Amino acid sequence: MAVQKLKDNVYFVGAIHWDRPIFDELVELPKGTSYNSYLIKASEKTVLLDTVDPEKTYELMRNLDILGIDKLDYVVAHHAEQDHSGSIPAVLERFPEAKVVTNAKCKGFLMDLMPIDEEKFIVVKDGDVLDLGDMHLRFIFTPWVHWPETMISHLEEKKMLFTCDFFGSHIATSRVFGPKDEMLIYEGAKHYYAEIMMPFRTHIKKHIAKIEELGFDMICPSHGSVHKNPQFIIDAYKDWVSDRLDNEVLIPYISMHGSTKKMVEYLGDALMEKGIDVKLFNISEVPLGEVAMALVNDATVVFATPFVLAGAHPSIASLAYLANALRPKAKFASVIASYGWGGKAVDHILGMLGNLKVDVIDPVLVKGEPKEDDYKALDKLAEEIYEKHKSIGITG
Ligand code: FEO
Repeated sequence: MAVQKLKDNVYFVGAIHWDRPIFDELVELPKGTSYNSYLIKASEKTVLLDTVDPEKTYELMRNLDILGIDKLDYVVAHHAEQDHSGSIPAVLERFPEAKVVTNAKCKGFLMDLMPIDEEKFIVVKDGDVLDLGDMHLRFIFTPWVHWPETMISHLEEKKMLFTCDFFGSHIATSRVFGPKDEMLIYEGAKHYYAEIMMPFRTHIKKHIAKIEELGFDMICPSHGSVHKNPQFIIDAYKDWVSDRLDNEVLIPYISMHGSTKKMVEYLGDALMEKGIDVKLFNISEVPLGEVAMALVNDATVVFATPFVLAGAHPSIASLAYLANALRPKAKFASVIASYGWGGKAVDHILGMLGNLKVDVIDPVLVKGEPKEDDYKALDKLAEEIYEKHKSIGITG
């Protein structure tokens, strides 16, 4: 992205990665992403806040050229992951006088990950302030959003928060403040939260309370849109990390010869008849991010799988593994499965959900095609889900 002025003497100097297809070989990026790096030109010091993925170093350098930067005092590293820190060695090569400002844990990670000499670092503590002359940058430690070393910074005079991954979104857009349609910002941020931040919601709750004590009118994350309306993204995060649940059942499924699909569609209809929303996701077709987003607030998850090689289908097993790692706040879970001659698909899936604090509702296991009794069992499952949702007051 071209240089964008955010406020007087504060600029976006990062890069858009329009065609990056996937992050961490896991998170699909249907809308691309960006690596947001920011430059502060204060009266005494010039500071770069985070860098960009090494693949985009040339764009960062070009933006610094456009601004005529010939001296850099500090590079702040809020987070050691390479999409933000990977260009630090190149920046230090170009600006040998610059120091890397970060916390002790991040310093250790950076030295593990890339060649930076120890004397290049200035280590800060929680609450420390970097004096830039007419501006001051305060560091606030926010561990586990989403690594243990993550921190944010507050440019006090400009009322700007620089939050790195926190409040970020994987979205490539030429508009630094995001698309005109705020819903696209919401969805991009929710997708990001679901796949990156969800396991850390307890930490995030505490960090939001701490952040709200600061004065700011702009949040500048390191992916996606800069938030000119910070309350919008803070309110969205507050909802996602809260205990509020939707009266909705997520049913991720795979069907090899149609039996499981028949059960899924029957159960979906039975739930809808009771006023419960459903998301029926054939996971061989639906992007993982959609499934993860449904996990953010859905009260119940029903995994649906055929037996394969005496266990659950590997795609559903993989999804159960991921759901367990993401630690959604769902309260209830079940399994529906179809089999030909035997196996342990139900135990296989339930055994993978140890991190989820869910009541398990009796699974439904069908031999071959579902028959009358099987449909009755699915009706019973729908009724039990309804009763469970009613018991926590979300049936409306
Ligand atoms: Fe965007 Fe955790 O890196």
